[in-house]
Amino acid sequence: MINQIQNIEKEISDYQINDTADIEKFRIHFLGSKGLIKGLYALLREVPNEQKKEFGQKINELRSYAENKLNEYKASGTQVSDTVHEEDLSRPVGQDNLGSHHPLTIIKREIIDIFNKIGFSISEGPEIEDDWHNFSALNFPPEHPARDMQDTFFIQKGDEEIALRTHTSSVQVRVMENNQPPIRTISPGRVYRNEAISARAHCFFHQVEGLYIDEGVSFADLKQTLLHFAKEMFGEKAEIRLRPSYFPFTEPSAEVDVSCTICNSKGCNVCKYTGWLEILGCGMVDPNVLDASGIDSKKYSGFAFGMGIERIAQLKFKVNDLRIYSENDTRFLNQFKSAL
Ligand code: DAH
Repeated sequence: MINQIQNIEKEISDYQINDTADIEKFRIHFLGSKGLIKGLYALLREVPNEQKKEFGQKINELRSYAENKLNEYKASGTQVSDTVHEEDLSRPVGQDNLGSHHPLTIIKREIIDIFNKIGFSISEGPEIEDDWHNFSALNFPPEHPARDMQDTFFIQKGDEEIALRTHTSSVQVRVMENNQPPIRTISPGRVYRNEAISARAHCFFHQVEGLYIDEGVSFADLKQTLLHFAKEMFGEKAEIRLRPSYFPFTEPSAEVDVSCTICNSKGCNVCKYTGWLEILGCGMVDPNVLDASGIDSKKYSGFAFGMGIERIAQLKFKVNDLRIYSENDTRFLNQFKSAL
């Protein structure tokens, strides 16, 4: 009996009270009509008469101890409890942790907005592409060394070799196959290249392709469209320059630089002290490409361009390591909350 009394005493002193519900549990467990202390009084009947007084007193002391504890808990109950706050319906709503758009999504949408406003629609094509749309229709003859410009991921499907598209230029072909001019469209999407991952290269990245086909479209239209884009994207002061280049699907072809937004063309390590930054490739769609896609090259002409979304984001957000875009590091992503 003495052991039982001591055990219950210890249990009372160790009892954990976290909220008001626990106080009631405490009362029922020790002092309730079926509680432990009531049980001790029942046992008292079996104790020899000469010990009844001593044990009776001990049980009374234990009951007082439990009652005092209970009163203490009740007195401090409002502080112990947090349920009281939960029940306060007038309490201000806690702030939700809102996510943010990915920086590449932000830039993609900006590019889309700029071209939408001057009449370009959006078109998309598959990321798993056939040789025709990724290469042949774009004037890359078989075994042409230009195919080596882009290291391709090939997938063997039976006898057929299919590829992960290496550029969004493949979507141009699909659009021309399915539509007659006037065509004015941009095609955003993910592309893949078999490259070792580093700060400056990745095995996947994102591009936006542009295509404009109509009667009498000239190189001057191309230049003016791209100047408009640069000013909308980088600010009114932005300038562009075109350098002659080569792409199998355009003739003539050019690469376009924008005046360095980081040093205002004064020269810095990002523009390698040239004052210019390369942002895209472009040109007049090669008549072979028009004919291969079912457009009459005698009647129509057009221009095309392709830009990397990561590249534009790098210049806008001053991010110079490509890998960080796909690492899901919230310390990086959280910085774009305000750009929603
Ligand atoms: N497809 C090219 C690339 O991935 C970019 C490009 C250059 C697209 C010239 C074009 C273009 O439409 O006319 O590097």
